[in-house]
This record gives sequence, C-alpha cells and structure tokens, in this order.
Amino acid sequence: MQWIPEYRDDVERVERFNAVARITHWGHTVTFLLCLFTGLILFLGGVDWLATIFGGYRGAGLVHRIAAVGMTIMLIFGTVFGFKGLIAWIKDLLRFGVNDIIFVCLFPLEFLGFKVKIPPQTRFNGGEKGNSMVTPTMVILLVLSGYIMWFPSIFPAGLVRFAYPTHDLAMIFSTVMVCMHGYLGSFHPGSGESFWGMWKGTVRADWAKHHHATWYAETYGDKAKAE
Ligand code: HEM
Ligand code: HEM
Repeated sequence: MQWIPEYRDDVERVERFNAVARITHWGHTVTFLLCLFTGLILFLGGVDWLATIFGGYRGAGLVHRIAAVGMTIMLIFGTVFGFKGLIAWIKDLLRFGVNDIIFVCLFPLEFLGFKVKIPPQTRFNGGEKGNSMVTPTMVILLVLSGYIMWFPSIFPAGLVRFAYPTHDLAMIFSTVMVCMHGYLGSFHPGSGESFWGMWKGTVRADWAKHHHATWYAETYGDKAKAE
C-alpha cells in the first residue's frame, strides 16, 4: 500500500512553493501541533498520560508558551520574507468565483468516488481558498486571544474573559480544518502530489495542468513563456 505518490524526478516538474513558503508552512505546522497537544492537556484536564509526555500539567503550560512564541516567529518570518508570495496568495483568494463554487459543490462527490468534471482552477482550488480563509483567521484569533490570556494584567478584564472562549472555539475550528487539510494534502488519492509541492517545492507538470489548469496556463503555459 502506498500512502503518498512516489516522487518522480524523471518527468517534467514545475515550482509550486518556494523555500520561504515551505519553511513557514512546516515550521508553523510543528509549532501549531505542539500548541494543540499541550493546549488540549490544559483544556481537557485529567489526561495524565498525555501530560506525562510534556513533564506534567505545568510542563505542558510551559511547552505551550514556548511553541506559541515559535509559531509567532514563523508567522513573522513568513510575512516579512514571503511578503510578495503573501500578496499573490491574497490576490488569488480574491479571484474566488463560479469555478470555485462548482469545485466546492463537486468535490464531496469526487471524494466519495464518483466521477465528476471539475472546471479549471487557479493557483488554489475552491477548497484550498476556503481553507486559506478559515484556518489563518482562526490562527490569528488564537494568537491574539493567547497573548491576552498570557498577560491578563495589561488588558481590560472583560477582554481577558472573552479571550478564553475565543481561544477554545478557534482551537476547535482550526483543528477540524487541519484534520481535513492534513489528509487532503497527503494521503488522499489524487491530491497527494501536492504534498511534494509543499515538501520539495515542485509538482509534476501533468498534475498541475490537470488540478490547477488556470494557474498552470498563466504561470507556465505558452502565453506566460512568451511574456
Ligand atoms: C501565539 C499563539 C498562542 C498563545 C500565545 C497561546 C497562549 C495560551 C495561554 C497563555 C493559555 C493558558 C495556559 C494556562 O492556563 O496555563 C493557553 C491555553 C490554551 N491554548 Fe493556547 N496559545 C496559542 C496558540 C494555541 C494554539 C495554536 C492552540 C491549538 C490549536 C491553542 C490551544 C489552547 C488550548 C486548548 C488551551 C486551554 C484553554 C482552556 O483551558 O480553556 N493555543 N494558550
Ligand atoms: C498536518 C499536516 C499537514 C500537511 C500534510 C499539510 C499539507 C499541505 C500541502 C500539501 C499544502 C499545499 C497544497 C497546494 O498544493 O496548494 C498545504 C497548504 C496549506 N496549509 Fe498545510 N499541511 C499540514 C498542516 C497545516 C497546518 C497545521 C496548517 C495551519 C494551521 C496548514 C495550513 C495550510 C494553508 C493555509 C495552506 C494553503 C491553502 C491550501 O492549500 O489549503 N497546514 N498544506
């Protein structure tokens, strides 16, 4: 059984994510997951077996804060050094249109094994555009509410009280998104090649043409080559 499609370097490949995007994504993933597991220990309580891994409940609180600072550094790194990419990402999200809506409607059928015809997609497909809007919004809420909870004495009491449910709800929404996203970006048959785009930076040209036809034509097509 093969979990992720084989990495093929004997076929034409095209760049999908540069080094800054990849470092930011995986650095953020590691620190996010550390925050998640240590946060769950504090949230659930009574999970001694999980708390032991992080040196008990106090240890989990400490690792949570260290990972939170690490996550903040990754976000700043990605924003400063990947500013152009960030703007291009936002511009792509603003292109959300009919083809993205059709993608979102048809993808569940494809997921269940039905044969469907997905219209051409830009750099990020309709689902990825949705993920790009919901998950980063939740992460921003986690960061803001997290620092308010960390330094309660410098914020109004009402804001500190509001920060707790905000942090918990953002954790729940982002975790649901990350579970779906992690599967679709790795093991899901058909979309697994995207993993190599985020891991090594490139994807197979034929995969890019098939999954992101508009992006491929605009970036690597004949018109783009002529410009
Ligand atoms: C910059 C990012 C973050 C900061 C500054 C931050 C800060 C904090 C602080 C100060 C606490 C209270 C800890 C304690 O009581 O000892 C906390 C709790 C918690 N955090 Fe975070 N956090 C961040 C990111 C995250 C992320 C990414 C997740 C999960 C995806 C998360 C999930 C939780 C959970 C579930 C709790 C327990 C809340 C409760 O007891 O109701 N945090 N966080
Ligand atoms: C759990 C392991 C993870 C895997 C296997 C994974 C995989 C991937 C892959 C392959 C892509 C590129 C998709 C493309 O070609 O466009 C991607 C993009 C992205 N990832 Fe992850 N990721 C993981 C965790 C995370 C986490 C923890 C977050 C944030 C909390 C995150 C947020 C994003 C966002 C916002 C994008 C761009 C939009 C999209 O493609 O959906 N990822 N990820």
